[in-house]
Amino acid sequence: MMHSNDWQKPLAIFVYLFLSLSSFVNGHSDLNIRDVGAQAYAFDLGGVELAQDRFLENQDRTLKYLKEIDVDRLLYVFRVTHGLSTQQATPNGGWDAPDFPFRSHVQGHFLSAWAQCYAVLRDQTCYDRATYFAAELQKCQTNNNAVGFTEGYVSGFPESDFARLENGTLTNGNVPYYAVHKTLAGLLDIWRLTNDTTSRDVLLSLASWVDRRTEPLSYNAMQKLLQTEFGGMNEVMADIYHQTGNKKWLTVAQRFDHAVIFDPLAANKDKFDGTHANTQVPKWIGAARQYKATGESRYLDIARNAWEINVKSHTYAIGGNSQAEHFRAPNAIAAYLTNDTCEACNSYNMLKLTRELWLLDSDNSAYFDFYENALLNHLLGQQDPHDHHGHITYFTPLNAGGRRGVGPAWGGGTWSTDYDSFWCCQGTALETNTKLMDSIYFYSDSTLFINLFISSVLKWQEMGITLKQSTTYPVGDTSQLEVSGSGDWTMNIRIPAWTSSAELTLNGKALPDVKSTPGTYAQISRTWADGDVVEIRFPMSLRTVAANDNSSMVAIAYGPSILCGNYGDQALSSTPTLALDSIKRSGASSLDFTSIADDKNVTLSAFYDAQGYNYNVYWATIGSLDAA
Ligand SMILES: *[C@@H]1O[C@H](CO)[C@@H](O)[C@H](O)[C@H]1NC(C)=O
Ligand SMILES: *[C@@H]1O[C@H](CO)[C@@H](O)[C@H](O)[C@H]1NC(C)=O
Ligand SMILES: *[C@@H]1O[C@H](CO)[C@@H](O)[C@H](O)[C@H]1NC(C)=O
Ligand SMILES: *[C@@H]1O[C@H](CO)[C@@H](O)[C@H](O)[C@H]1NC(C)=O
Ligand SMILES: *[C@@H]1O[C@H](CO)[C@@H](O)[C@H](O)[C@H]1NC(C)=O
Repeated sequence: MMHSNDWQKPLAIFVYLFLSLSSFVNGHSDLNIRDVGAQAYAFDLGGVELAQDRFLENQDRTLKYLKEIDVDRLLYVFRVTHGLSTQQATPNGGWDAPDFPFRSHVQGHFLSAWAQCYAVLRDQTCYDRATYFAAELQKCQTNNNAVGFTEGYVSGFPESDFARLENGTLTNGNVPYYAVHKTLAGLLDIWRLTNDTTSRDVLLSLASWVDRRTEPLSYNAMQKLLQTEFGGMNEVMADIYHQTGNKKWLTVAQRFDHAVIFDPLAANKDKFDGTHANTQVPKWIGAARQYKATGESRYLDIARNAWEINVKSHTYAIGGNSQAEHFRAPNAIAAYLTNDTCEACNSYNMLKLTRELWLLDSDNSAYFDFYENALLNHLLGQQDPHDHHGHITYFTPLNAGGRRGVGPAWGGGTWSTDYDSFWCCQGTALETNTKLMDSIYFYSDSTLFINLFISSVLKWQEMGITLKQSTTYPVGDTSQLEVSGSGDWTMNIRIPAWTSSAELTLNGKALPDVKSTPGTYAQISRTWADGDVVEIRFPMSLRTVAANDNSSMVAIAYGPSILCGNYGDQALSSTPTLALDSIKRSGASSLDFTSIADDKNVTLSAFYDAQGYNYNVYWATIGSLDAA
């Protein structure tokens, strides 16, 4: 069903473009540029509060770590590199050790997470940590002359690594722009979310350094340099343009357009096989951000095609992708069920990309079907609920008898730790678990989108509305949406593609005129009254999710949740065979099921809750679910 407001969208885009352009003409530079093509908008992080459930518990554990970690230890590599006193701090281990090539990458994630913590909760400790860090980075920048660095540079390794990157002699394994991207993104988040002007100054000074460093390089020299992982440099530079309105940053962003990756994607060709996965996903996000800055459809094609190819041909049942950090041949899923599947950063980045694309295409609920899958089945359970600092795994193993926190040593081989890991995935998890509310609700004119079913309270200030969502989803199959305030607006509720039907009621009465087809949005347009309650039920059932390359290898899902077999400490030498007709739910208050695999009783449980035991996700099968 088309919403009656649809005609307004092109007009709104035109008005935003017009306003943006006229501000350039008028010479305003400190202006937040509206995104080209936006059909919907996110709420401020502080507008949505998580209620008590697993998502809030994850957030709380991460917050505890964010507030307890020794900030001076995180500053160590910056201070040493810039010739300042380390203030007797102990150096970190892991990927922030003083001899680790891209030390100082993880700090940017802390900056983003502290900024998000402040934005969500107005938490003073997080604010103080973020702004202290930015001020200390400014001191590092100020001392650049004394240590022979050029203006604006700030990092935990010497600037000469960039000279080596440029002249092709960088041999220490560093990915210097990858690390600098994190610092830029972290500072931008502090600026955006707290208005701290020191963070803005350090950011723009470092961004200007990037401009000066890359401006003299030829196109070919730049393309060669881009063969070394560079994170989301195109994304953050486009974001600085969005934040400042200064087109200079867009020019810098476009220098990071990586032709070998973008050209095949623009032509919708899958050239993923063998490429390092998390090196690519941030580039696609950058393409989406550049589309929103320029309106050039090629960028949109690149971002959309990358999403489609990845989700359809390279993604495991839990929403993650990659094996040993790399993409494999199209549809090679069962062929790569190993202990190093699904690097977590890739899913963090895919969620960002999904959100960007959905905002341009808000009728398309498939984006949030994927989002829900990767968030629930991969990232929620990436964090160890038994750890008070919410430590995480790098990979999520999908081999028979796999276990979270067990994998090759170079990818962790264990859960992260307070001071001796600092892997990429530890950094992105800090961000994930401080913005779990950012994609539940969105708005467009007078339409409210409900994309995720997570207990929470939304304050929609422009409309004077508070919406309280109460649910035990995905254990329960209903969600209750209670409206406070009144007025004319439309509620768009995502009906997941996996359900067979959805039942909607308003104040206990059915809504026969509202279509609730799976894979679409149910739209309720009315004059809302204070206290109105919408209840939506998504009947859940067991289903199989086959591996693309072998229809006889399946994961089991119940509603949105992937289930796994609990094998305790038992090792599995081969894929177990699950009797599909043996699967029986143990009760409505959990996602536990009894089943028989290889003639033995096996408990199936929600995969997001599978920590501390050996599990099985992909099965050979006998029988059929119809009989279950
Ligand atoms: C590359 O740059 C490094 C750092 O400045 C320098 O030491 C080295 O001599 C350069 N190598 C070449 C081949 O230009
Ligand atoms: C930042 O400044 C903007 C514009 O003045 C304001 O709307 C916003 O509320 C401020 N944010 C914070 C966290 O103070
Ligand atoms: C991961 O799997 C590989 C290949 O099967 C194996 O050699 C390695 O020992 C495994 N690592 C762990 C920690 O189980
Ligand atoms: C499986 O569990 C059922 C019910 O608890 C029990 O009757 C049966 O003996 C068990 N089967 C095996 C093979 O352990
Ligand atoms: C597909 O999976 C089934 C069940 O595990 C297995 O028996 C079969 O050998 C697999 N087929 C291929 C081509 O790998």
